Amino acid sequence: MEKQFKEKENAPLGNIEEWEEDLKVRYPKPKSEQAKGREDYRNYHDSERVDTVREFYRLNHQYQTYDFVSRKRDEFLKFDKKEMPFWDAINYLNTLVDDSDPDISLDQLQHLLQTSEAIRADGHPDWFVLTGFIHDMGKVLCLFGEPQWAVVGDTFPVGCRHSEKIVYPEFFQNNPDSENEQFNSKYGVYEPNTGLDNVMMSWGHDEYLYQMVKDYLPEPALYMIRYHSFYAQHREGAYDHLLSEHDREMFKWVDKFNPYDLYSKVPVPPDAKALRPYYEDLVAKYLPATMKF
Ligand SMILES: [Fe+2]
Ligand SMILES: [Fe+2]
Repeated sequence: MEKQFKEKENAPLGNIEEWEEDLKVRYPKPKSEQAKGREDYRNYHDSERVDTVREFYRLNHQYQTYDFVSRKRDEFLKFDKKEMPFWDAINYLNTLVDDSDPDISLDQLQHLLQTSEAIRADGHPDWFVLTGFIHDMGKVLCLFGEPQWAVVGDTFPVGCRHSEKIVYPEFFQNNPDSENEQFNSKYGVYEPNTGLDNVMMSWGHDEYLYQMVKDYLPEPALYMIRYHSFYAQHREGAYDHLLSEHDREMFKWVDKFNPYDLYSKVPVPPDAKALRPYYEDLVAKYLPATMKF
């Protein structure tokens, strides 16, 4: 029986972009690279956003239990909700636009294009460009009525102790798994260095999209998609004890991807219409004609 959350608990953020905006405050662009685009990073200390983001993490850390994730996986990894051509999915995702905050009126398509265009400009392989272009497609979960804290937010392993290096670690006190002996030891239900493929992550847009495209993209792309919100690992190294040698190798790609996700916002937005033929070809090269959600 699905637990229903109160309206207020479903949407603690003004819109889901507030999470990514907050990430840029937590992980600012290195000073050496800050010269241009500085403008973009003002206003983020806005105290109102600090409060909503805090509340967002309170809910996220309380409700993302091993059991909750298992239920969400059962519910969504059947991919029986909707089937649509890729570009319809983009348009669908774009209905997530929220103009309530003029500071972040960037629509989803613009964030995807700015990420992928920055990757393309650096001369990376086309599957890397495509990864940038699709990496947040999983946010369509929001349009299926899912609570914001079950779509975006830093991800972390469930089934073992929550690291102090996860943002707002004190909120894990309210997570029943913290009291559960099966789940609250260093390794919990896992073996040392078992490999992340054996580790269940908190539920969100990353795992959802990974499962959707896992048969179509090269492995580095899949790591980037699956773990791009796993800041406690790719920025803090908090779960080295669960990673395999292979994960460590692959996380070099996750590291490579992250700056494009966080810092690719440009003052003059890419021309979505002009770029569409290029991206249509790229999508067609790797992905099936329609996607199952
Ligand atoms: Fe994302
Ligand atoms: Fe993103």
